Amino acid sequence: MKRTAKELDRFVGGWLEEHKQRRLMSGGLIEEQVFMDVLLNILEDADIGGFDADTINKATCLVLVFAGNDTTVVALTWALSLLLNNPCVLKKAQDELDMHVGKHRQLQESDIKKLVYLQVIVKGALRLYPPVPIIGLRAALEDCTLSTGYHISSGTRRACMD
Ligand code: HEM
Repeated sequence: MKRTAKELDRFVGGWLEEHKQRRLMSGGLIEEQVFMDVLLNILEDADIGGFDADTINKATCLVLVFAGNDTTVVALTWALSLLLNNPCVLKKAQDELDMHVGKHRQLQESDIKKLVYLQVIVKGALRLYPPVPIIGLRAALEDCTLSTGYHISSGTRRACMD
């Protein structure tokens, strides 16, 4: 684990150096900022809980890659597998895409609100095969009331899917 952690740190450290160089060359005026650039701007000389800005930047980027990669792969694989096993649903999804997007351009994020059938497919796949079936247990440490007025007593545990 220690060896792998070092390797990962070298890997993500390489990204960080690239972004720092790019920032230096552009005089801090990068037009299309990616997540790491944004963190570089925000963190500057941060020292949070004894961790320096570079460590916080690398850890935040790594957690997003880890949390976002496998979950998305598993969700998409199940959704595609379910579609292939339900050809009439696949046909309806294709018809909806043809109607709202057509065959001559790629789907944009802004199209999604019109693709209601596709949304249901994604929700159905997540319900049938959640990529994260057992999630870490959490408990409220103290009484708190949400801005909506909902009260949560100290010790309340968040429900765990299984
Ligand atoms: C189908 C895709 C995904 C599923 C099923 C999923 C599921 C989950 C679940 C169940 C949690 C725990 C929530 C909790 O304990 O309160 C979580 C947390 C998290 N997810 Fe995802 N996730 C997905 C995609 C992503 C993506 C794409 C990213 C990043 C780009 C991401 C980043 C995170 C992070 C950073 C946390 C921790 C949040 C926190 O504790 O503050 N996830 N995710």
